[in-house]
Amino acid sequence: MKLTYLGHAAVLIEDGSFKALIDPFLSGNPSYKKSKNHTLDITHIFLTHAHNDHIGDTIEIAKKNNAKIITVFELGNILKMKDTSLDVHTMHIGGRFDFDFGSVKMTPALHGSGFVENGKIYDGGNPCGFVIKRHGKTIYHAGDTGLTMDMKLLEEETIDVAFLPMGGNFTMDIEDAVRATTFIKPKTVIPIHFNTFGPIKANPKDFKKRVKKADVQILTPNSSYSI
Ligand code: NI
Ligand code: MN
Repeated sequence: MKLTYLGHAAVLIEDGSFKALIDPFLSGNPSYKKSKNHTLDITHIFLTHAHNDHIGDTIEIAKKNNAKIITVFELGNILKMKDTSLDVHTMHIGGRFDFDFGSVKMTPALHGSGFVENGKIYDGGNPCGFVIKRHGKTIYHAGDTGLTMDMKLLEEETIDVAFLPMGGNFTMDIEDAVRATTFIKPKTVIPIHFNTFGPIKANPKDFKKRVKKADVQILTPNSSYSI
């Protein structure tokens, strides 16, 4: 299974016939380095919440590939209202579902999910994270979230790789991402959601120095880590 960091919170998971994007904020993402390989033959798109730095290019990529979008009920319905041709599977916090590619559990995220369109603010429902299990490997993408006690429950998922935000201001900062790592106990942590914009400046090397019991992989945009 190959995990490619596309900058900000965007991640590409490739494993045989399964090619999934999480939070594909690409064209507007200042840290993204464009490559058509990242949007070709996508089978699934996971969306953690409705903020534009996460929805990004979802609709365009989903339509081009007939990819299935997996997200919370409210945001899934908003996307269907925008375009009825989209293939959307909605779930909710705490729910797990067995897809043909593996299982997905939707985890809580402490954040918002409102978005502005035509001068109005709309509610995208609850934000979430994902625990994705496939072929004996477990990936956790936290979405945008503050530190929660609920993260302690994730220890039981035996997570191989956790993508954790650590840029502060909108999400956990380094200190809280270190605490989250001690709660979750993943084998490997990959820091995300930092340095894309001014208010989320953070040095991932400081995070790596402070994490004692997990391997930290600092991925620059477009670099990959395989498990
Ligand atoms: Ni957000
Ligand atoms: Mn965000």
